[in-house]
Amino acid sequence: MEGIDMQKDAFGIIGYGKMGSSILKGTLKSALFDPSEVMVYDLDPSRRTEAAATGIKIVNSIEEMANCSQILVAVKPKDVPALAERLKAILSKGRTLVISIAAGIKISNLESRLGEGTRIIRVMPNIAAAVGEAASVYVANRNATKQDIAFASKLLNGIGVAYQLEDETLIDTVTGLSGSGPAYFFYIMRALDEVGRRSGLPAPLARSLVSQTCKGAGALAAASSEEFDRLIRFVASPGGTTEEALKIIDAKGVSSAIIDAATAAIEKAKRMNY
Ligand SMILES: NC(=O)c1ccc[n+]([C@@H]2O[C@H](COP(=O)([O-])OP(=O)(O)OC[C@H]3O[C@@H](n4cnc5c(N)ncnc54)[C@H](OP(=O)(O)O)[C@@H]3O)[C@@H](O)[C@H]2O)c1
Repeated sequence: MEGIDMQKDAFGIIGYGKMGSSILKGTLKSALFDPSEVMVYDLDPSRRTEAAATGIKIVNSIEEMANCSQILVAVKPKDVPALAERLKAILSKGRTLVISIAAGIKISNLESRLGEGTRIIRVMPNIAAAVGEAASVYVANRNATKQDIAFASKLLNGIGVAYQLEDETLIDTVTGLSGSGPAYFFYIMRALDEVGRRSGLPAPLARSLVSQTCKGAGALAAASSEEFDRLIRFVASPGGTTEEALKIIDAKGVSSAIIDAATAAIEKAKRMNY
């Protein structure tokens, strides 16, 4: 972002864990920010040291983020209440947009902890932010300005694809779908990788083939308007090898297991309340 004044326009990240670090890597990779424009705070000193290696500014307390124009809250949902108490004090000037990625923490919950007038954007991203391939949605509260929404859009589209939603309840659905989603694909990839290695492929080759196949299938689905059933049929010709595999996948109820699993994740997101 051009012309950012460190004192006035720094982007702060609180929590440099799996997601905070992924989002930072994605923003630096896509040159959304210069490292000098970002500051990070994490309770864990080793995480702060790790963040420092990227060239960004590390701070030793939340209070040092008082001049940030935007603060990304990237701590676990259970840690949000304690963090919010301290964050509230530095938001008093009303100049900071709070962007929360905490699963299950509703905007109304954040408003009651941070102050009803706080500008808030709630986001559900995913871990692929680190490589600029996140799938995110975001919902703005009534206080968020057009500039805040433009900032969130630029940030999230810089680390993948992002969609603005009006209905906050849909964030829980997205949490179980694309928030948790990379793990579902990694699960399938792990199984395929195992088959490849067991069947004689060198481990690096098996991993590369599985990863590229997942990436290729995703790219193809994103570029195509065909139904998934039809995409499956493009690969599974009658009497062929894929059809043989799909018979087992169907017989073992894999589709319903995935539907039940993602539904359970969505229900868990709905129940979360800290
Ligand atoms: N992981 C995902 O794939 C994913 C996807 C979508 C959304 N999210 C959301 O992203 C958020 C972060 O998840 P994560 O997986 O990145 O968690 P994580 O790896 O545990 O990272 C959170 C970091 O924040 C630190 N922390 C806790 N309280 C803090 C405080 N008051 N001030 C500063 N730092 C603090 C933690 O330190 P300690 O370990 O010392 O407590 C930890 O280093 C969660 O709310 C989650 O719902 C995660």
